[in-house]
Amino acid sequence: MKNGKSGGVLDRLDNQGATSFYWYLSLLATIGGFLFGYDTADIGSALPFIPYKLSSFAEGYLVAGASIGAAVGAIAAGPLTDRFGRKSLLIIDAAIFAVGAILSAFAVNVEMLLAARTLIGLAIGADSAIATAYICEFAPRDRRGSLSIIQQWMITVGILVSFLVAIIVLRAAPGAAGTVGWRLMLGLGAVPALIGLALRARMPESPRWLMLNGRYGDTRKALGILGMEVTDEEVKATAEQLKEEERRRENVSNWTPGVRRALIVVCVFFIFQQITGINIPFYYGPKLMAGLLQGPHSDAVNSAVAGVQVTAILGAVNVVATFFAFRYIDKLGRRPLALAAYAGMAVFILLAAAGVAFLAGVPQIVVVMIGFALFITCFAIGVGGTGWLIQGEVFPTAVRGRAAAIGASVDWVANFALIQVFPASQQAIGLAGVMVCFAGLSVLAIVFIARFLPETKGLSVEEVIGLFERQAAGKPGTG
Ligand code: BGC
Repeated sequence: MKNGKSGGVLDRLDNQGATSFYWYLSLLATIGGFLFGYDTADIGSALPFIPYKLSSFAEGYLVAGASIGAAVGAIAAGPLTDRFGRKSLLIIDAAIFAVGAILSAFAVNVEMLLAARTLIGLAIGADSAIATAYICEFAPRDRRGSLSIIQQWMITVGILVSFLVAIIVLRAAPGAAGTVGWRLMLGLGAVPALIGLALRARMPESPRWLMLNGRYGDTRKALGILGMEVTDEEVKATAEQLKEEERRRENVSNWTPGVRRALIVVCVFFIFQQITGINIPFYYGPKLMAGLLQGPHSDAVNSAVAGVQVTAILGAVNVVATFFAFRYIDKLGRRPLALAAYAGMAVFILLAAAGVAFLAGVPQIVVVMIGFALFITCFAIGVGGTGWLIQGEVFPTAVRGRAAAIGASVDWVANFALIQVFPASQQAIGLAGVMVCFAGLSVLAIVFIARFLPETKGLSVEEVIGLFERQAAGKPGTG
């Protein structure tokens, strides 16, 4: 190994072939990603049909409460997962997701609904803090990118499925939208959560976390499930090396300059991931598009269905485009994908802005849709999944949970801030003006990535932190 000295069984783990079991495990780890997408997008479709009298606080909280809950859930998950492991937290999260969805479906008043949404938010945040960290701790180094991109893929599928469920529910029983319809949209999230709960109980704990916590017998068993036969002695020898590395770091402090640098890079990456506007088409899409599509005779259900249908097309583009991230993240690397993606996002959001500012009627809808679709495509290829991937791969095992959780929490705070700021900014400078700002921010993101994000493809997770340490010490990295 170049810089990471752990070697031994971890070296073998890093160089294993990714069997179908590895893909299955990544899928299980990212069921929370699916629910992250589903539960953040479903409220937009359900909101117009919630029959309770909603104060503006309650309405704002229903839409943005999941994001705030997620910021809190992420931060809480960090120390818990470093202390109790990745698997236990992933199981608890699945249970909270299920309870939150069931309570939403059977809510008898606004307060119960708000409480249920808070629970869902906590689970979204906690899961988003841990999922890719868990994957990065068992993934072979040359497949770590693709396996982690499954998180992003599941998020996009969750968003799309929430739109499809809304369309089916609203079309099948338009008259029941305000009674059973909205409850179904929110409650169906319980199904994947319960599946996750059942299956996550059987997944192996992270071998790196087990080793660091001295659980050698369990490490051997976990590695066995991952297809590696090792002896207790081999595990012990590698664990000693791993602990030695962590101890050396702890002599200074766990939060060495390299770890702090990595944390800042992840946090700033996440801030750009959000403030460049990706969630505007998803969260506000149904409303914005329903407005553009509303005819003189359309009723609430029809225009809501039309808005959701158009947004679902963008959701489908998002799912398909994520395939390219999955395909190329380990081949081309994190940096080139992210740089090219932000360049494309800047160009295409300007195209959509031009449509909003200078066109009307059908040509406006066409140009805005093309602009948004290509903007989302670029995001999906180089920005969305890249954020969640680097969050999982750049920290050392001893602090990975806490550091990754801080990153996730920053992502959610930025997400919340944008949802809050968007309506007022739209009023102040118009939708096109806001979109031009997104383009400017995408250009700033390019400058940031070019200067600060090192290339981490093909390195072991122990080598990655070495790279950040060297950069923090002012030595040239390989970035
Ligand atoms: C972001 C989410 C966003 C999604 C869209 C994720 O990477 O964190 O905020 O809704 O991508 O695909």
